[in-house]
Amino acid sequence: MKKVFIKSYGCQMNVYDGQRMADVLAKEGYAETAEQSDADLVILNTCHIREKAVDKVYSELGRVREGKELRALQGKDTRIVVAGCVAQAEGAEIQRRQTAVDLVVGPQSYHRLPDLLTRSERRKVVDTEFPIEDKFGFLPVPDRSRTRARGVTAFLTVQEGCDKFCSFCVVPYTRGAEVSRPVSKIVAEAQALVAGGVCELTLIGQNVNAYHGEGPDGRPWPLWRLLERLASLDGIRRLRYMTSHPNDMDDGLIRAHGDLPALMPFLHLPVQSGSDAVLDAMNRKHSAAGYRDIIAKVRAVRPDIALSSDFIVGFPGETDADFDATMRLIDDVRYATVFSFKYSPRPGTPASGAAEQIPEAVKSERLAILQARVEEHRQAFNAATIGRRVDVLLERAGRHPGQLSGKSPYLQTVQVETDACHIGDTVSVDILSQTTNTLFGRIVSDKAVASVA
Ligand code: SAH
Ligand code: SF4
Ligand code: F3S
Repeated sequence: MKKVFIKSYGCQMNVYDGQRMADVLAKEGYAETAEQSDADLVILNTCHIREKAVDKVYSELGRVREGKELRALQGKDTRIVVAGCVAQAEGAEIQRRQTAVDLVVGPQSYHRLPDLLTRSERRKVVDTEFPIEDKFGFLPVPDRSRTRARGVTAFLTVQEGCDKFCSFCVVPYTRGAEVSRPVSKIVAEAQALVAGGVCELTLIGQNVNAYHGEGPDGRPWPLWRLLERLASLDGIRRLRYMTSHPNDMDDGLIRAHGDLPALMPFLHLPVQSGSDAVLDAMNRKHSAAGYRDIIAKVRAVRPDIALSSDFIVGFPGETDADFDATMRLIDDVRYATVFSFKYSPRPGTPASGAAEQIPEAVKSERLAILQARVEEHRQAFNAATIGRRVDVLLERAGRHPGQLSGKSPYLQTVQVETDACHIGDTVSVDILSQTTNTLFGRIVSDKAVASVA
């Protein structure tokens, strides 16, 4: 049997795409392997969001090439594929920089992989089209055993692409315009996942709350209606979604956080900066006050919600006062978790040509200050759950024998000791203590609140 090794970088969308590629290739007789040296086919599923991410791809390609040469000495052939957002952005340039690459394929063409692989046997191939056909219609839904092997939680792409054009961001260029999948297709995929033992779905999209897919009534449905529909499916216990834009946080979605028990109390709502001048230069089209209003509305319907955001420090023109405004926003919101980045100028984006680029040393200093503060808040958020009783979905084996590890509704990692409970059980847990990244708890009774059938 032929073997494929797939390595995904970047966001959840790439994780999902990596699984879909594995599913397409399974139909062609490829088994997945975790060992690159065993693989007849190596796929790097790449990310273009920051320069560092791209550098990583080229150094990894150097290693993959060495692996290919070693295997050639043993008489084995290896094909190298670059997929994902670097493939989309750089196309044929990749094969110029690394001649060992056989195929470059953009995110909208994964359903054509088998055909492209055949063509690449004869000569190098680049496919970075945005085809008119919907790739999802051609990508197979994973079968039960493959889904089971992937665990009890799953990502499900409901929307792809972005029309927002933030001035720093490559995504609108690498993923194209916003497209929402029809409700019926999403429901069918969710049902297949449930049949494979999945009980928690995270709906993903670059701008997931801009979702407006066609509903069964032929009209566009907003995300909250899709969430309601999915919550009504037998076997779905938990729903999450990411990533959202503040301007698409409509009242229906906010209300769902109060009304829909399956919708977990966690919201990733990136704001990027707390300064209106910077937000304006970023083309975010909302103010810091507007963002605070949304947070207040969400907290009004779900006071215990865990909030999360992305921040960029050192955006062109960012002054000390702008950075202080970001720190004030962080102190006011008190996030449960935060992802933060130094601004990285990206080719082809408006901000990369701005005159007032910030020196690297200043970016590093601001990032360190920000990260120290959000770490304090994260620890405080976790500490506040000690002494509370929460539901935990058990997802995997724990660090030691007899331990299982799962997630709280707030997406915290929780370890418990149990002989009687299994992966896929939701259990009621008293949280007792914490270390840096993990909470420890005691299961209230050895009877699961819910289990996978
Ligand atoms: N669609 C999402 C996130 C997309 S990218 C949103 O609208 O927020 C994920 C994160 O990467 C962004 O939120 C941003 O914080 C960061 N990012 C994007 N481009 C970047 C750049 N050029 N430099 C540094 N960070 C960047
Ligand atoms: Fe990028 Fe902005 Fe679109 Fe998010 S909303 S993907 S940051 S352009
Ligand atoms: Fe990276 Fe593309 Fe995702 S650039 S963050 S893999 S959409």
